[in-house]
Amino acid sequence: MLLCISLETSERLAAGPSLPRDGQVAAAADAQQAPRPYRPSIGQAGKDVVWVPTPPALLDTMLSLAGVTPEDVVVDLGSGDGRAVIAAARLGARAIGVEFNPELVTLSRQAAADAGMQDRASFVQGDMFEADISQATVFALYLLPENLDRLLPRLQSLRPGTRIVANTFGFTDWDPDAQERVRAELCTDWCDALLWIVPARVAGSWVFDSGERLVLTQLHQVLHGEWQSGSSSEPIRQARVRGTAVAFSVGERRFEGDWSELALTGVERLRDGSTRRFRATRQP
Ligand SMILES: C[S@@+](CC[C@H](N)C(=O)[O-])C[C@H]1O[C@@H](n2cnc3c(N)ncnc32)[C@H](O)[C@@H]1O
Repeated sequence: MLLCISLETSERLAAGPSLPRDGQVAAAADAQQAPRPYRPSIGQAGKDVVWVPTPPALLDTMLSLAGVTPEDVVVDLGSGDGRAVIAAARLGARAIGVEFNPELVTLSRQAAADAGMQDRASFVQGDMFEADISQATVFALYLLPENLDRLLPRLQSLRPGTRIVANTFGFTDWDPDAQERVRAELCTDWCDALLWIVPARVAGSWVFDSGERLVLTQLHQVLHGEWQSGSSSEPIRQARVRGTAVAFSVGERRFEGDWSELALTGVERLRDGSTRRFRATRQP
């Protein structure tokens, strides 16, 4: 290759200087005027956070941790060059990026078209804090904790079970439900995928068909509560809510159920291993 270049160069040099013809002058002028393709640079300023792209191996891990399927609508707030959106579209999901920088939006649309994903991957130019996120079932994010904390009230008001995956940075006071680190040979910096599942709001007082009562307090996915049976009461143990799935233990009984707007229903496992169904309704 080097040899070819040097032969060609020496031939041109040997031919001596020549005056450009008309067509060559026009082509040179066009080349000077043609806009250079936009190339973002890592660390460049953004409205609320700089642009740094998520490495492909971490993106795969994030989308797999979220369990993205073709049924999902995946949203990336601050979508950069569109890579997370395009990766989600490749999994069959409808995917939407919201990006403030219009040049990154143009670049993302072109990348989606180049990947043949333009029907499922779309991009909105705008502020992520004002975007309509009501359709999302999954968020794939790479933001700072302060950005995530600002988004938290809106994210937690979405349908229980909505998944949020993020690159390395999390919320200040909401621990992830799961996390996974990309192997060192595939990723050197920012290699953690974090997953949160929007929990159903189950705090309050529940009355079971058995007549027993449960009074729950909740901080995100962590539950505390008091089980009341007749005149006795005891704290529940090993309690948590994951999306709409609620589980807790009382003495040697284990309750695993599913929350809906109307009721909490599920299966109770008794001390002797037998099971029976339970149903509880919320007391106003
Ligand atoms: C750390 S980069 C992440 C890019 C992409 N999500 C990824 O994982 O490769 C954050 C992106 O958010 C964009 N951004 C910053 N503030 C924003 C805002 N208020 N609304 C929308 N996008 C914003 C930046 O331009 C940048 O592209």
